[in-house]
Amino acid sequence: MANRTTIIAGNWKLNKTAAETRRTILELRNKLAGLSTGAEVVVFPPFVSLETAVDAARETILQVGAQNVFWEKSGAYTGEVSTTMLEALGLEFVLLGHSERRALFGETDATVARRLEAVLGGRLTPVVCVGEGLEEREAGRTGEVLARQVEGALKDVAPDHIGRVVLAYEPVWAIGTGKSASPTIANDAHTLIRSSIAAMFGRSAADETSVLYGGSVKPENTASLMRESEVDGVLVGGASLDAASFAEIVRAAG
Ligand code: 13P
Repeated sequence: MANRTTIIAGNWKLNKTAAETRRTILELRNKLAGLSTGAEVVVFPPFVSLETAVDAARETILQVGAQNVFWEKSGAYTGEVSTTMLEALGLEFVLLGHSERRALFGETDATVARRLEAVLGGRLTPVVCVGEGLEEREAGRTGEVLARQVEGALKDVAPDHIGRVVLAYEPVWAIGTGKSASPTIANDAHTLIRSSIAAMFGRSAADETSVLYGGSVKPENTASLMRESEVDGVLVGGASLDAASFAEIVRAAG
């Protein structure tokens, strides 16, 4: 079995002020104290709380990431944030291509690819999100959609950079619905994602890429998802907002 990094991540989306961020991270620190885990544990607060989050997470196992980033480093791009700025804050991770960005903010495979290229030019670890919608799944198009998204996002990645990329399978129908993908559905989709990576970068690169599952992950379903051979971690939305439930997920992930 390939030696893949386990990542337990909380995407806070549009939630928590800076003060609430500090409080939640301090609570998490207490709840996770003494835990020995081989996993990387990451939270993704909104941009305005990132500095506070990095400060509160100091000397804990928690790492911090941003929910998005623009591809240019500086210039006349009102409202945008660059990789240089995120790196200067001491962040480790950045999410790219979340389905909410695709559905609500015009993100496409092409813009995900541009962001990914910019991130790989620096030192952040990108977590690229892919996933099919309900209609696509019901029409039997899951494989095709995942292949298009993975190929579209990774098309400009240099072979020596693929080892830095993390993928997240987030079926749109499972996000915020309470209906998680079954462990088998998640495992099968991760296998498809890995096949696309293998077709582009070779089998061993694919075997070494961590693929996380996201979509209604809770303390109760974490262990069964994590038992699947192709599931290397979880990307948690709603259940990561509460320190007690996110800490339970971290513990359940083993
Ligand atoms: P939920 O865990 O709330 O379903 O959200 C998943 C998600 O979108 C994480 O990025």
